[in-house]
Amino acid sequence: MNYPFYVFVICCFGQGIKPFVTLNHYDIPQLLEDRYGSWLSSEIQLDFSYFAQVCFEAFGDRVTYWTTFNEPNVFIYDGYLTGTYPPSRCSYPFGNCSYGDSALEPYIATHNLVLSHATAAEIYRKYYQEKQGGMIGIVISATWFEPYDDTPADRLAVQRSLAFSFAWFVDPLVYGDYPPEMRQVVGSRLPTFSVEERKKLLEGKLDFIGVNHYTTLYVKDCMFSSCSSPYSLGEASVYLTGEKDGAYIGEQTAMSVFFVVPRGMEGIVSYVKERYNNTPMFITENGYAQPTSVIEDSLNDTKRIEYHEKYLAVLSEVVRKGADVRGYFIWSLLDNFEWLHGYLIRFGLHYVDFQTLQRTPKWSATWYKEFLCEDNKI
Ligand SMILES: *[C@@H]1O[C@H](CO)[C@@H](O)[C@H](O)[C@H]1NC(C)=O
Ligand SMILES: *[C@@H]1O[C@H](CO)[C@@H](O)[C@H](O)[C@H]1NC(C)=O
Repeated sequence: MNYPFYVFVICCFGQGIKPFVTLNHYDIPQLLEDRYGSWLSSEIQLDFSYFAQVCFEAFGDRVTYWTTFNEPNVFIYDGYLTGTYPPSRCSYPFGNCSYGDSALEPYIATHNLVLSHATAAEIYRKYYQEKQGGMIGIVISATWFEPYDDTPADRLAVQRSLAFSFAWFVDPLVYGDYPPEMRQVVGSRLPTFSVEERKKLLEGKLDFIGVNHYTTLYVKDCMFSSCSSPYSLGEASVYLTGEKDGAYIGEQTAMSVFFVVPRGMEGIVSYVKERYNNTPMFITENGYAQPTSVIEDSLNDTKRIEYHEKYLAVLSEVVRKGADVRGYFIWSLLDNFEWLHGYLIRFGLHYVDFQTLQRTPKWSATWYKEFLCEDNKI
């Protein structure tokens, strides 16, 4: 959501809807970018925690689910490694930017981001949690990976991909340090935490881990053998693809890297469960993109219904096997502005006419409403 969240809090309050609030999703005041380079400076830690505290103070009586960051792994990669999103910083061979250093800045920015989370969480625990009774966590974009070939090198590449995309952001908040899989590759360019910082990280803890899961990709190792374009996840030295021997890993969707692979839900949830001692999880995003903008072709979205039925069936299996998953969100309620894709792809359960803003439920909206109201459906 791009509009200020207080609009959301106010409109939902009284409808029995519980707000689940994200404090930061990519955006940063230009002033802080100009003043000290935002995430590249340790000054951001204090400024972020002031901001978080203002929110806890003003809305914490009604908001009991707080997320510090949504998909920081996406904006660190795009902003500092490939340079395809603002602030468009990167260096060769990872991208083509006029400033930046892809071999250093992503690690520095993440370091400040992780410590910003820890500082905000520390404030929440100390002054608000007990009286407001809420939870605080972080949300990560979580692709599942499978080895391209069933070889030790590709299986190792899967572990590196998970470390460089997911554990990089979560390991510090659970174990007080970066993943060993990353330290091996990045060495001393990966910052270290001081004793004091580590203490703060470990005390901050995570009440929940938010998992945004859409797709599964094959991973090919590019560390021990050469690949033509080995930079899918920076220094992980892997090549990611949804295609093998002329066949896709699952049915394609309107997002070129999103394929329908329901078993991936089991993969990612089990990974998080095992790596983080079954910390409570929320599936904070899961959804299906349509390519069309024509209303007639949008409303009968049977493929979206099938997508959710299959992913939910797998999820319920994993929950039965013991994963502590507390909730599930569909992305999204409404068609909306999808970042660089703009209005060209649609994830909504409701069709939105962007000229008139009129909303029409798609078949999936009706299906989901019935699904939620039926007992013991899955
Ligand atoms: C890098 O970007 C510059 C400026 O946009 C462009 O002229 C140049 O061709 C690009 N180089 C590569 C290797 O893509
Ligand atoms: C949805 O309706 C459109 C227009 O009637 C039709 O062309 C399309 O094939 C339908 N799609 C599905 C998935 O039923």
